[in-house]
Amino acid sequence: METRVAVYPGSFDPLTMGHMDIIQRSLKSFDRVVVAVAVNPSKEPLFSEEERILQIREALGHDPRVDVRCFQGLLVEFAREMEAGIIVRGLRAISDFEYEFQMAHMNHQLAPDIETLFMMTGSDHFYVSSRLVKEVCSLGGDVEALVPPNVYKALKLRMGK
Ligand code: PNS
Repeated sequence: METRVAVYPGSFDPLTMGHMDIIQRSLKSFDRVVVAVAVNPSKEPLFSEEERILQIREALGHDPRVDVRCFQGLLVEFAREMEAGIIVRGLRAISDFEYEFQMAHMNHQLAPDIETLFMMTGSDHFYVSSRLVKEVCSLGGDVEALVPPNVYKALKLRMGK
């Protein structure tokens, strides 16, 4: 039988419980999920791509059905390399919609054979974003419930809290 492969791309700076939820739920529909950590030279991330990859692998408990890699350049080209026909994205609120709508259409224009599949973020996590997690943590707020335990430790260390 054909292996169903999906790519789940993002910045993951850092990985949140919202991302974890999407990865776990994707595994119910796909045999293999490639978590694709975007390398964006114009952004100054809190964690390097190597750190993010290790954090995601550790948080997932080294699940053999999940591959965590970084990619540079066009997402659709990376998806092709991974032989994935599906790009998975989580949708939180209406505010995500416009950006996601544009990206999905642009990716479709570039690669009509690759579909974008949206999953609604779980109701426990619809307000969680990496940006807010970093902001709240940097201001001394408690983000323990919003990120996996290893990411929480790394955040506290990096922010000197
Ligand atoms: O977690 P993010 O920052 O919302 O993820 C955005 C990401 C990495 C999925 C997006 O920026 C992306 O796909 N970048 C790769 C470059 C690319 O293919 N650009 C054209 C997509 S329209």
